Amino acid sequence: MASRQRGKFITFEGGDGVGKTTQMEKLAAHLRKRGIDLITTREPGGTALGDKLRAVLLNSRTTGLSPLAELGMMFADRAQHIDEMILPALARGQWVLCDRFTDSSEAYQGGGRELGPEIVQQLHRYLCRNLKPDLTVLMLSDLAASIKRAQRRNIKESKPSRGDENRFEQETRAFHKRVLDAYKAIAEREPERVVRINARMEKEKVHRKIVACVEERLLGE
Ligand code: TYD
Repeated sequence: MASRQRGKFITFEGGDGVGKTTQMEKLAAHLRKRGIDLITTREPGGTALGDKLRAVLLNSRTTGLSPLAELGMMFADRAQHIDEMILPALARGQWVLCDRFTDSSEAYQGGGRELGPEIVQQLHRYLCRNLKPDLTVLMLSDLAASIKRAQRRNIKESKPSRGDENRFEQETRAFHKRVLDAYKAIAEREPERVVRINARMEKEKVHRKIVACVEERLLGE
């Protein structure tokens, strides 16, 4: 049997509550209909270890975590996720759609926590085999709207059994502004990989834009 072609790796990025997860699922459904074999996953999370790290990282009762410890935990999650899940799937020829990846660390820990981009890029080289997405969908909205949306959603979703996932949403507006600025800097630096999508558009329109982009850049249509 001829060796299978490596699958494509697509990541979704953006501030909290911007609608990434919905759009990732919609793209997954579209690609599956076209006969593409794929998996969807997320960071932090995606593996058993990742789920444990996620619970600590996102719970608002986790207090006093140093920015460097936070960054280290994000990368521990990612290193495990890449080895256990992402690379094996790509090698099998499956596409991988991932809700957040290293750009999130550059935006939140590099920008939000002010650790800067360099340390994130270095850790990525050492711990993540420098794996680059084939395409990154960066969903941009205005700051106030996405903070509001994230808060509304968290009130709706918070169940005592599941614990809250509000630690980042509770950060200041200035923090979220730094996150957004860091994302914009990534998009300027790597236009061949990162496509910016206006997340304020109507949901179906956002979906159509993303599909058009994937078809043009990854399916050569
Ligand atoms: P997520 O489930 O993606 O939430 P949302 O749907 O609100 O975007 O939440 C993950 C949170 O973790 C989000 O606030 C961003 C943060 N995060 C980092 O700070 N650094 C990282 O490297 C990653 C992957 C996530």
